[in-house]
Amino acid sequence: MLAVYDWLVLGLVCRWIWRCPRSTMLAHYNAQVGAHHLDLGPGTGWFLDNCRFPTPAPSITLVDLSDVALATAAKRIARYRPATRGADVFKPLNLGATQFDSVGLNLLLHCLPGSFQQKAVVFDHVTPYLGANGRVFGSTILGIDKRHTVISSALVRRLNGSDSFDNAADRVEDLARELEARFTEVRIARAGVICLFSARHPRPAAPAQGGPGTLR
Ligand SMILES: C[S@@+](CC[C@H](N)C(=O)[O-])C[C@H]1O[C@@H](n2cnc3c(N)ncnc32)[C@H](O)[C@@H]1O
Repeated sequence: MLAVYDWLVLGLVCRWIWRCPRSTMLAHYNAQVGAHHLDLGPGTGWFLDNCRFPTPAPSITLVDLSDVALATAAKRIARYRPATRGADVFKPLNLGATQFDSVGLNLLLHCLPGSFQQKAVVFDHVTPYLGANGRVFGSTILGIDKRHTVISSALVRRLNGSDSFDNAADRVEDLARELEARFTEVRIARAGVICLFSARHPRPAAPAQGGPGTLR
């Protein structure tokens, strides 16, 4: 599946069925990704391989339930020498004292079981690792949205039936509520039936000695 994922899912299905080209999600990465980045569920690593980091030598940590996905993504971005951790995002991440500028959850939430209220435990698991003003961002396929077509609705039903997705009840309002309960500067945009989101850690940057804090 990973071998065909980039062109079939990211290239064709995202553009023509969900109606959000991968270039739109890549632009979202480019706008949000930081120099110290944690990526949850990196899959094949296509976005990490193609996005523009704000520094030539970013520090990147990959977390995925699948060892195959971790190995694939890590090999693909070996030039950045990423750290990898096999873990379930529904459990505490145990990443030590590391603080990240950004945490990416791209095309992850619609795969996770439960309502957005239950999926949002993932936000609680990343918050301890977000540096001051760190950003959480990503995208997810909505199960309920007036932009659905006959074809996209049928595919949502099929993928929920085969346990690939668990998003039949996912609505943008519920995701917004969970983000707003935890973060500031919550931004949500939709392209087709994909919701792109970003939010900022509420903890302000520590003031620099002798002067006011600087917002990044
Ligand atoms: C649809 S892929 C998205 C891949 C990539 N982020 C992208 O945008 O192309 C979902 C990824 O999340 C991982 N995943 C699914 N459930 C997970 C969980 N509970 N904990 C950690 N990773 C999970 C899968 O192994 C897979 O790599």
